Amino acid sequence: MNGVANISLAAESRMGRISFIDLAAQQRRIRPAIERRLQAVLDHGQYVAGPEIEELEEKLAERTGAAGAVACASGTAALIIPLFALDVKAGDAVFIPSFTYNATANAVIVTGATPVFVDIDPETFNIDPQDLKAKIAEVREDGALNPRCVIPVDMFGSPADYAAIASIAAEEGLSVLSDGAQSFGGGLNNRLVGNLVPATATSFFPGKALGAYGDAGAVLTQDVRNLEEWKSVRWHGTDDARRTSVRVGFNGRMDTFQAAVLLEKLEIFDEELAVRRQIAETYDTRFSAFARPQRHLPGAQSGCAYYCLRVKNRDAVVADVNKRGVPTAIYYTTPLHKMPAFAEFAPKKDLEATKAVSEEIFALPMHPYLTPDQVDYICDVVEAAAS
Ligand SMILES: Cc1ncc(COP(=O)(O)O)c(C=O)c1O
Repeated sequence: MNGVANISLAAESRMGRISFIDLAAQQRRIRPAIERRLQAVLDHGQYVAGPEIEELEEKLAERTGAAGAVACASGTAALIIPLFALDVKAGDAVFIPSFTYNATANAVIVTGATPVFVDIDPETFNIDPQDLKAKIAEVREDGALNPRCVIPVDMFGSPADYAAIASIAAEEGLSVLSDGAQSFGGGLNNRLVGNLVPATATSFFPGKALGAYGDAGAVLTQDVRNLEEWKSVRWHGTDDARRTSVRVGFNGRMDTFQAAVLLEKLEIFDEELAVRRQIAETYDTRFSAFARPQRHLPGAQSGCAYYCLRVKNRDAVVADVNKRGVPTAIYYTTPLHKMPAFAEFAPKKDLEATKAVSEEIFALPMHPYLTPDQVDYICDVVEAAAS
C-alpha cells in the first residue's frame, strides 16, 4: 500500500486543494505535543529501546484489547516476526490473497515458504473462505507442500471473515496470522483488530490511519506467551540478556522516535476515526446507487484507512474525477500473481474475482481533515463521472 505510482496526491478544485491524505493538517493540530515527545527522546538519548517503546506497547494492547503488543520496524517486520516464531519454512504453504500489497507475499517468501494465492470475495475484497478451502485441498492433493498458515488481509481496513477462516484453519491444522496493516481501529462483533485472532501484524507507515513519521509496525497477540519469542526474534533471536542468539531473528526493532510520535497520535486517533467513519458513511450512501463500494461483513467496522469502490469504465471515471480536482489512487491494478517477482507462484486457473476487482477499483480521498463541503464536492464529482 506504500506505492505512490498511481496516486495523484492532491489536486486543485473549486473547493481549494483536496488532499488524498492530509498529514500536514494533522501535524498543524498536534505539532507542539509531538515536539515535546521528540524532545524527551533527545533528552534521555535512548534512541533504540527507549521507555516510549514499552509505553506504546502497553497503550496498543489497552486500545485494542489484545493481551500484548510488540512494537517493530514496519508492517513487513510485523508479518515476518510471527512467521519466524512459528518456524514457517521451506516446504510450507502459506495461503494469502493475491489482491494485496506485495509485503504480504514477500514476508512469506523470506521465510523460504511458498505463497499460495487465494481469490477474494468480489464485494468485501477480502480472502474468500470457499476458495481458501479449495486451495488447501489442491495443495494436499499435489502433495509437494505442507499447508501451514493462512494470512488474511483486512483490505482497506475492513476485517476479513475470521469466523469462517478460523474454522477452516482449525479443521486443517493451519495457523492464522492476520495482516492488519490497514485495519488498526477496525473491529468485528465487538472485538477490535489485534484481538480477533492469535496474531495480528499492523503497519504504522505514515499514510496509514495511525501513522508514524517513518517506518513502524506492531504485532498484537491474544496470548501473552507469544511476546517473549516475538521480542527475541525482533532482536536477532537473542535471549533476555541480548547476548546469545537462541533462534534465528533479525533487526525488527522500532526506533524510539517513532514510538514517541505514535504515542501522541494515539491520543487523537479515536476522534479521527469517528470522522473517517462519517465520511465513509456519506460516500457509501451517495455511491451505492451507481457504484459498488466495499461491503463490510455484518458486525464489522472498518478502520477506514482507505475508501475504495468499484465502477465500470474505471480509467475514464478516474481521469474525469482527477480533472475536476479530486485526487485518487488505484489499489491494486496488478494482482500479485501477475507481477514478475511472484509469477512463479501463479495459480493454474486465474483468480476471477481478483481480476474483476483490480480492473474496476479505485480509491478516493479519506482523512479526517476533509471538510463537509469537500466531501459533498467529491461525491458530486464522482456521481457526475460514474452514473
Ligand atoms: C496489506 C499490507 N501488508 C503489509 C504492509 C507492509 O507494511 P510496511 O510498509 O509498514 O512494511 C502494507 C503496507 O502498506 C500493507 O498495505
